Amino acid sequence: MKALILSGGKGTRLRPLTHTGAKQLVPVVNKPILWYGIESIVAAGITDIGIILSPETGEEIKAKTGSGERFGAKITYILQENPDGLAHAVKIAQPFLKESPFVMYLGDNLIQDTLSEFLTQFQDKQLDSLILLRQVPDPTAFGVAKVAADGKVLGLVEKPKIPPSNLALVGVYFFSPAIHDAIARIQPSARGELEITDAIQTLIDHQKQVEACELTGWWLDTGKKDDLLEANRIILDECPLTACHGEVDDQSRITGRVKIGRGSKITNCTIRGPVIIGEDCHLDNCFIGPYSSISNRVSLVNADIEHSVVLESAKIVDIHQRIVDSVIGQRAQIKPAHPRPKALRLMVGDDSQIDLI
Ligand code: TTP
Repeated sequence: MKALILSGGKGTRLRPLTHTGAKQLVPVVNKPILWYGIESIVAAGITDIGIILSPETGEEIKAKTGSGERFGAKITYILQENPDGLAHAVKIAQPFLKESPFVMYLGDNLIQDTLSEFLTQFQDKQLDSLILLRQVPDPTAFGVAKVAADGKVLGLVEKPKIPPSNLALVGVYFFSPAIHDAIARIQPSARGELEITDAIQTLIDHQKQVEACELTGWWLDTGKKDDLLEANRIILDECPLTACHGEVDDQSRITGRVKIGRGSKITNCTIRGPVIIGEDCHLDNCFIGPYSSISNRVSLVNADIEHSVVLESAKIVDIHQRIVDSVIGQRAQIKPAHPRPKALRLMVGDDSQIDLI
């Protein structure tokens, strides 16, 4: 059994963060989203992993993730020149996948369920595909499945106007090598991509064994800002967070579950968990409220932050309004140029969003 993680694509929905970086490396609780997928695959006993990369962000992903040794896996990187669709990614990965069955995992998805149970079902029943589904309130934005009572998949539609069910396809799929023949038979869709839903539909049309399982835990597609904050909230609630490797002075008050990384200095701050603070951060006279993740080398002075994600080396100084529900990009700086500012002077990247509330 092998694994294929799709970590190419355009990442338009998380702009402007993804103008300068890969969306799969955006951290959730200070760990790249992609790494959760790798860990979940390794936990299911699969260690031969291919990762699809784009020319724009591939080098960054490779440099950060490495050979796979840190996860106990062997990673093979596969370059996809253009984001021509999920099925196209499988097509170019064929020399890596060979005749092996595999799990395909979208690099920007997070699921709570462990993969082992699904893997066992896929292998024991010798299926050609096992797809994972989750009930969603608005299925029109997803690939949607129609499933018989015994779990057999009757059909799939991509972003249907009239959905056949409220069961959306989650970004984790199991395939036998029969998927390669199915992909060879499909044509690009109206949006010019080779769609994995069309390939799975082809399996169904050729009487291959395609079944579905419904997820019981949460599923997060971290493509957008609010999804990212939600993923951060859920994982902060679940992970153990009670280590302090930094320096905290006597004036600071830390309550709830809080993790502070090596080399970080906390002076005269109130921190209410769950909160994670990375390494080599400098926090002086701040309030850090629940559900905040502060990445490495962030500097916060005279600032109030809550339910927010601050990426590496960002700097926030003398901001007296509370910063809430926010994602602050790498190396971003927020500071007043005057002691009592009366105007805003901004250098805001394309696709940024600033809400004054
Ligand atoms: P999507 O979110 O469907 O596509 P995208 O990355 O282009 O994102 P956006 O909608 O924000 O523009 O992709 C799901 C995952 O699959 C994501 O990790 C990127 C990856 N992917 C590839 O590796 N190759 C591809 O051809 C496509 C379409 C996606």
